[in-house]
Amino acid sequence: MMAAATASFSSGAPKKDMIVRAARPEDLEMPMAGFRNAVTPIENFFVRSHHYMTKVDLNDWQLSIGGEISKPQTLTMADLKKLPKVELVSVLECAGNGRGLYEPTVPGLQWEYGAVGNGRWAGVRLADVLKLCGLKSTAKEILFDGADVPVGKMPEFKRSIPLKKALDPDTILAYEMNGETLPDAHGFPLRVIAPGWAGDSWVKWLIKIEVLDKEFDGFFMKTAYRHPGKNVAPGSVVDPATMSPLTSLRIKSVIASHADGAVLAPGLTRLTGVAWSGESPVAGVDVSTDAGRSWRATVTKTSGGKYGWSQWSFDWKPTKEAYYQLMVRARAASGELQPFVQEWNPSGYAHNAVHTIGVNVTTAAPAAIQKASIAGAPELPGQFRSTCMVCHGTDVMEQQRLNRGQWEKEVDKMVRWGADVKPEYKNQLVDFLNSRWGARPRK
Ligand code: HEC
Repeated sequence: MMAAATASFSSGAPKKDMIVRAARPEDLEMPMAGFRNAVTPIENFFVRSHHYMTKVDLNDWQLSIGGEISKPQTLTMADLKKLPKVELVSVLECAGNGRGLYEPTVPGLQWEYGAVGNGRWAGVRLADVLKLCGLKSTAKEILFDGADVPVGKMPEFKRSIPLKKALDPDTILAYEMNGETLPDAHGFPLRVIAPGWAGDSWVKWLIKIEVLDKEFDGFFMKTAYRHPGKNVAPGSVVDPATMSPLTSLRIKSVIASHADGAVLAPGLTRLTGVAWSGESPVAGVDVSTDAGRSWRATVTKTSGGKYGWSQWSFDWKPTKEAYYQLMVRARAASGELQPFVQEWNPSGYAHNAVHTIGVNVTTAAPAAIQKASIAGAPELPGQFRSTCMVCHGTDVMEQQRLNRGQWEKEVDKMVRWGADVKPEYKNQLVDFLNSRWGARPRK
């Protein structure tokens, strides 16, 4: 192995106000307040890890490049830094952002809005690196592999992108984020920046590039991160072979200034938020304060370049005391609009339905919010502790809302990844998971 990488449960980095979707492997979501920044500070930037956190020692680190090329390379960081340095602002959004909003519910991390951030990335053009290698005419796809080590028997995280995207001058290998050395949680010392594309292509802790004559056929290309590319009936089973890898992000926007259920006094208030898109930039953002009956253009300003998010604002003066449904809808230069009703897909990717919140405009003092009390939780069975709490905690399970059949599939997947479930205990385990974290309404 090229880089001496060590794995630990978490990055140990500050988790300022982050929503912890999983403590290990570390998955952190940015709360809505994070959308108020033009560029997302590192401590508020979401983290998505398939495996435990990887720490690479730069002294042992090299980037090796092979495959369909005439001049194989092994580059150090000093070699890379001899190439021209480029910098760009780009949104990084997890393919599964918004999965927790899908109905019917799908398994996986239940992200709501904050598995996204706007970063300033600096490094070298991937095209400049590939220029050193003498690409053969058979070159079609560029495969990335990081130094992260899979948990149990889980497959390695490797992804390929087509040559066209790899040669795009905006596709870079970054060693800096927001003007700082790339942090461990974001792929130190080098990660792929594929602007406009979902985060699954932004491979972290990069140590190896392989030029292929066809699309890579590993688990994270052929089974995971695929979308039907057309409408399918909610809840249906779709064969991954008929789906395609996720590429471009979709047009999307959020309201960040007010929370759903906020109470405000009548009079002038400023609504703000951000909008972002994939390969076709944001062309406009409209707001409705009457549940979509009428729409008004907002004032938008970009945070730099076509891949950064745009900040929008709208001055609103509600005169009547009432409950208002506020909506925001963005439009891309291509004409693509956010849908009102989210199309469903089996893994809950690419959620981009219009963000709607309800606010109460009233002069009355806010009523005390009644929180439902949580009944005393029963003890976790010993067998469950010894089989399911080995690689991670219960946090990843608590957020699921799966029916019995979905839980059974989830247990089978964990068995493939190395969970030691005794066959005679499986039914009892699935019953337990279903009774504890079964299908139920979202809130
Ligand atoms: C060998 C290690 C290992 C064991 C044992 C294990 N898991 Fe996991 N599990 C993982 C990893 C790694 C992830 C995160 C995968 C990712 O983020 O891509 C995960 C994720 C999950 C998730 C989140 C949804 C998903 O599919 O990513 C659920 C739910 C889950 N595990 C349930 C269980 C249950 C129930 C058991 C006991 C039967 C169990 N796990 C045992 C390794 C394990």
